[in-house]
Amino acid sequence: MIDITNCEQLISDFEGSERKFAIYYNGSTYMVKEPDPIREKNNKLSYMNNTFSEHIGCRIFSMLNIPVQETFLAKYTRPDGKTEIVVACKDFRESGQQLYEADKIAKSIIDCNEIKKPDFRDIENIFERVENHMAEDAKQRFWDIFVVDALIGNKDRHLGNWGFLSSDQRHLKLAPVYDCGSSLGALVDEKQIQICLDKPGIMSNMELNIMTRFKIGGKLTTYRDMLLTPPYQLKISIKNIVPKIKLEEINKLVDSIQELSNNRRKFIKQSIAMRYEKILVPALRKIHKQEKIAEHRISTTKPYNRYETTFVTAYNKALQKYNDLELVAIKASKDVIKNTRCDSAKVMSIMYDLLPQAKADDTYPIKIIQKVKEDPVIVKQLAQRDKSKEQDLGL
Ligand SMILES: Nc1ncnc2c1ncn2[C@@H]1O[C@H](COP(=O)(O)OP(=O)(O)OP(=O)(O)O)[C@@H](O)[C@H]1O
Ligand SMILES: [Mg+2]
Repeated sequence: MIDITNCEQLISDFEGSERKFAIYYNGSTYMVKEPDPIREKNNKLSYMNNTFSEHIGCRIFSMLNIPVQETFLAKYTRPDGKTEIVVACKDFRESGQQLYEADKIAKSIIDCNEIKKPDFRDIENIFERVENHMAEDAKQRFWDIFVVDALIGNKDRHLGNWGFLSSDQRHLKLAPVYDCGSSLGALVDEKQIQICLDKPGIMSNMELNIMTRFKIGGKLTTYRDMLLTPPYQLKISIKNIVPKIKLEEINKLVDSIQELSNNRRKFIKQSIAMRYEKILVPALRKIHKQEKIAEHRISTTKPYNRYETTFVTAYNKALQKYNDLELVAIKASKDVIKNTRCDSAKVMSIMYDLLPQAKADDTYPIKIIQKVKEDPVIVKQLAQRDKSKEQDLGL
């Protein structure tokens, strides 16, 4: 591990609550964050883990190709002789460039006492405010970052912890991700970690209900709620990011950090896997299901007769329940037979008229009606109707 104790120290212009200083290393400026002494006191922790969370969190963003500050863990001996592990974060501002945190932009939009816990609409307004100054779709990247924050359980993506870069106050771009120090259970102490590892229920309670830093309808919302009922652009980010997440790669990274205790490594890996399996994957599955429903839904705007209306209503409803389209067609056919005086020929003609599967394969309605007739109740209902139809036709 690199020792930065003897690196040249620069005058720092980095703000924020954690203890930090600036160094010149390998031709670049780095902001160095130390283990957080304030929270150390409040939490009776002999050692804080914000530095590890910063490094691991940033590396996970990088694995997913999201622009992020470069970091490395280093040893540093303080003037008081105490040696600690710090995280060095490369200054991403190019010469002449300034960072405008979102809370600065928000000052013209949000009441100052709301800035700490803005409403979801305020975030939209911030992007509207900067839209004309940007070439890229920064809002999409914001939602990509949101998905990864959900994965790493970031409790602190407030408006000061993301922002925009500009060198002329006219042209902006979204800054690389910075400040992931409050993720991955940085404030959970070893005793709590042991409890979480022993009792998965406690672990899931703590790690699956992490709050975002914005409100919806006046209440702070969780990552889980947002991901399971996502706004349009978050849906796109879920589809884009979740399939790229490779837990094995993340586990390897966590295992490579020997300075963490065995239990903390286990905790970090398990909590990431938990959020991935219980929140991110279900969110992706839900979107796929909704898309499938939308793709196969029969339009309800056309003028249908009584039989067709019953069939369409039952078909669209069954789409929500069954993945298999054949089951959906069977269910709708049964409904129309049970609730109207429809005979077999009529049900098949509805399928020919309304289902693309039947248009592509004209044996489809026959196959469906055969399966429908496996139900003895239906057979009984159809027997009389089909017989009188045959008589009408002189068969
Ligand atoms: N890599 C970087 N390059 C340039 N500026 C940075 C970088 N990382 C952070 N900053 C700036 O320094 C400030 C403090 O950094 P950071 O947010 O990581 O610290 P913090 O003490 O954890 O903050 P908080 O008060 O949110 O806990 C940021 O708000 C941002 O303005
Ligand atoms: Mg910060």
